Amino acid sequence: MPTAIVTGCSRPTGFGQLTAKTLARAGFDVFATMRRASERRVELDSWAMEQDLSLTVLEHDVLDPTQNRNVVKEVKSITGRVDVLVNNVGMSSFGALETLHSHHIHQVMETNFYSAADMTRAVLPVMRTQEYGRVIFVSSMAGVTGIPGESIYCASKFALEGMAESLAMEMARFGVSVSTIRPAFFNTGMSMHNTDASTFFYRGTPYDAFNDQVVTSTSEGEIAGENPQLVADTILEAATAGHPKLRYEPGIAAPEILAGRKAMNDEEWRAFVMSELGMSDLLKPEEAGVPA
Ligand SMILES: NC(=O)c1ccc[n+]([C@@H]2O[C@H](COP(=O)([O-])OP(=O)(O)OC[C@H]3O[C@@H](n4cnc5c(N)ncnc54)[C@H](OP(=O)(O)O)[C@@H]3O)[C@@H](O)[C@H]2O)c1
Repeated sequence: MPTAIVTGCSRPTGFGQLTAKTLARAGFDVFATMRRASERRVELDSWAMEQDLSLTVLEHDVLDPTQNRNVVKEVKSITGRVDVLVNNVGMSSFGALETLHSHHIHQVMETNFYSAADMTRAVLPVMRTQEYGRVIFVSSMAGVTGIPGESIYCASKFALEGMAESLAMEMARFGVSVSTIRPAFFNTGMSMHNTDASTFFYRGTPYDAFNDQVVTSTSEGEIAGENPQLVADTILEAATAGHPKLRYEPGIAAPEILAGRKAMNDEEWRAFVMSELGMSDLLKPEEAGVPA
């Protein structure tokens, strides 16, 4: 039975928990990790018992390098191997760069990027030694294109994309594949549950209305988003394909966004994004394609 570790499985509607269940149904021995597991594991434990599937919940804060190593050690001691690591943990970030609290910038990069790098470094020796493994990063379309008001979230996902592409080249000779999953908008409730976005940025700046617009439009986009199970199914595909791809764009919107980005030059793309977000008035008239 192949073994998988999935991080960030605390919420029933999140990609993490859906992926853990999907992999368990597909015959994986799944280790679903989360913070404050003692308070939140009951539902997932009962589900696994009812379904008679192999799914174990582990306590895990990915910001703690010791816990990252202990999780890998524990799984290896139980199953003897780790075939798949799904780095799913992430958090939202909203606000014009100038207005962000410095600690928020660090928190986003640590949660979305450094922790995934560290967890991957913890698991690579096991995969390299067993000459097999799949490392999957839950990235985003925000790792493909910049988004006004989400510069730090984009920075964290662009960083993941660059690391994954490089790592894929480093690890191919050891039989370890690397994939990124790049969703657009999915209705997981991430932006709503995440944190009070107003704690991300300072108020009383010329950006107040802009920041509020970003928070509202992102949350609305997520509520109207696609079914998160599609992302879990795509992760299963990356975990089981004969030759996994480096990049996957689940659902309908993500492939469309990618195609648009490839078809347009930088200036055309900027005008398109701003127009889609209802922010064309923030561009200079000539950049928005509007006659002055
Ligand atoms: N929803 C979308 O439209 C969308 C689109 C593109 C990409 N993504 C990405 O998809 C991934 C999953 O997001 P989601 O939408 O499924 O939302 P989510 O349910 O909020 O998932 C985020 C998970 O990360 C966990 N987490 C955060 N910090 C952690 C830490 N230090 N240690 C352990 N767990 C931690 C959260 O746990 P707590 O409950 O403990 O905070 C939660 O389980 C993220 O990487 C996100 O950037 C989402």
